[in-house]
Amino acid sequence: MGLIGDFMDADHEFLDKLWLEFLKEDVENDNASVLFKRFQKYISMHISLEDNFLFPRFDEHFGFENETGPTTVAHRDHGNIIKLMDMIKENFLNDDVENSKVNGRHLHEALEKHRRRELEIQYKLLDDFISSKEWREALMKFYGKETPRE
Ligand SMILES: [Fe+2]
Ligand SMILES: [Fe+2]
Repeated sequence: MGLIGDFMDADHEFLDKLWLEFLKEDVENDNASVLFKRFQKYISMHISLEDNFLFPRFDEHFGFENETGPTTVAHRDHGNIIKLMDMIKENFLNDDVENSKVNGRHLHEALEKHRRRELEIQYKLLDDFISSKEWREALMKFYGKETPRE
């Protein structure tokens, strides 16, 4: 792909790894909530970068009016991901180990599906119309630095 597609795809890989670490963890264990919070922090940054910068630029470039382009599905996916995370948070509060595992696996499936969609549609095209300067500025704004995982 290009600068942006490669970065975003690597970010998905990073997020998947964090989530799998969480799924392996025993939920009663304190470490589970540390891993959950870590995942939540990074996925919130990722979703915010997409919802507030990449997707609006995508819609603007291709002339999609509100809710008419492929980013509509991606936004809906984000809503589902956030909903599942809220449910897992609730499971934690209620010490509901079983349901947190079930919802955790659902979230993993939702992430995989979403990841494929973004890779096939949005990520492929972003580098064609967003300059590296604009991209670096967006990363500074949403991630606080240009290389968030280092
Ligand atoms: Fe996304
Ligand atoms: Fe994404």
